[in-house]
Amino acid sequence: MVTITYVEPSGTRVEINVEDGWNLMQAAVTKGVDGIVAECGGSCVCATCHVYVDPERLAALPPPSEDELELLEDVKAERKPNSRLSCQIKANESLAGLVVTIPECQT
Ligand code: FES
Repeated sequence: MVTITYVEPSGTRVEINVEDGWNLMQAAVTKGVDGIVAECGGSCVCATCHVYVDPERLAALPPPSEDELELLEDVKAERKPNSRLSCQIKANESLAGLVVTIPECQT
């Protein structure tokens, strides 16, 4: 289990303990974090689970798949170099203390 900090669109910081193997969208939705819509439930087809990953930790994440990269082209909020889809990031020890920021809009 690792602690992930989500920064909601309002600026509120929410710390969640995420089980290994859970994805960051799943944990956020389960705990009621504001700003992640996740219309497709994690099937990597909606791009409404967009987050900005702490740029200094970006290299610690597995690279995005082709499907994720394609979806990131259609995110509603500004796409940045640290944009990722939270349903595609699985929790593990290497992500301990990670901070992800949720954009102001998803749809
Ligand atoms: S929840 Fe749909 S792409 Fe992540």
